[in-house]
Amino acid sequence: MTHKLFEPITLRGVQVRNRIWVPPMCQYVVEKHDGVANSWHMAHLGALAQGGAGAIIVEATGVVPEGRISPRDLGLWNDAQAEALAPIVAFLRSQGAVAGIQLAHAGRKASVHPEGSPLDGQSIPIEEGGWETVGPSAISFEGLRAPRELDQAGIDAVVAAFAASARRAVEAGFELLEIHGAHGYLLHEFLSPLSNQRTDSYGGSLENRARLLLQVVDAVRAQISEELPLLVRLSATDWTEGGVTIDETVQVAEWLRERGVDLIDVSTGGNVLAPIPSGPGYQVRFATATRERAGIPTGAVGHITNPAQAEQILVTEQADIVFVGREMLRDPRFPIRAAQAVRYPTPPVPLPYLRAHR
Ligand code: FNR
Repeated sequence: MTHKLFEPITLRGVQVRNRIWVPPMCQYVVEKHDGVANSWHMAHLGALAQGGAGAIIVEATGVVPEGRISPRDLGLWNDAQAEALAPIVAFLRSQGAVAGIQLAHAGRKASVHPEGSPLDGQSIPIEEGGWETVGPSAISFEGLRAPRELDQAGIDAVVAAFAASARRAVEAGFELLEIHGAHGYLLHEFLSPLSNQRTDSYGGSLENRARLLLQVVDAVRAQISEELPLLVRLSATDWTEGGVTIDETVQVAEWLRERGVDLIDVSTGGNVLAPIPSGPGYQVRFATATRERAGIPTGAVGHITNPAQAEQILVTEQADIVFVGREMLRDPRFPIRAAQAVRYPTPPVPLPYLRAHR
């Protein structure tokens, strides 16, 4: 068996011990609706680091209060939020993992009840603690409140907020940043003609629809050191007629590469309700197409649940890393198990657990 999963990868000045990475996953556990991380985040993320993941990307974190999906999301628009994340980041590093964070603005899909609550996914009325949402156009996501169309000042403020959050993330010790450009949140809403019907320089051509994402990338890159890797998560297809296509995604990925993005985290969907043919590795081909045609490293994600499957994706050069989400929730020690499955001689076992894995 090959050991591709355990071959370290270096992006800019950061070496990651292996290629099993944890994608961002919202926990919806912020208690006081203040965007501040708590002991759940320490325990949850800490267990993933102890389990041997290479890099761990902290859940979608709002760059402004109105950019959170729900009131229970993390935020990074003030220093108290960065201070709460710092010890968590330090712990992840102490376990040999690289800590990353996904900076996000939920756009027209913001202000909803968190997953797991009785009204899961429905808009929270403003009088009940919700807020006015914003988007490229005043077009609602099916079933949610319509957003207010952002004007130029609003767009400039979004760009500045991403940059300010990036600076705070660096101060908190994060060694890797991901910009959320997928799943029907603000930056994807601008990219997709299904949600963007603007007639100014942010709408129409692909160049115009990608403008906000590229401005955010430029502003974030300007805030962080040359040594720090920057990822962008994209939805490679809207899975429906008239939406974002893989050809457009390849073009956007090329522009992102030229602007100093180091890896595209290739997901799909989320901007409109559309049937998705999901199954084992169902999104991998989009990571492969982006990697081959745009000449940029990619991460594959989606129903990657076993070591041989993950190893195969890397050995056959379909992607440069694999993101393992729900399987890491089921078993945070998946990387240790994978190392045993591929007979890697030095599994990423933390010292206090050594005797359990001899
Ligand atoms: C997610 N996903 C997700 N994606 C993202 O870009 N930002 C996020 O904050 C979240 N939040 C989130 C929470 C939970 C509980 C789940 C299960 C998923 C999507 C996730 O990153 C991943 O792309 C999918 O789960 C598919 O990968 P798996 O789970 O099939 O390995």
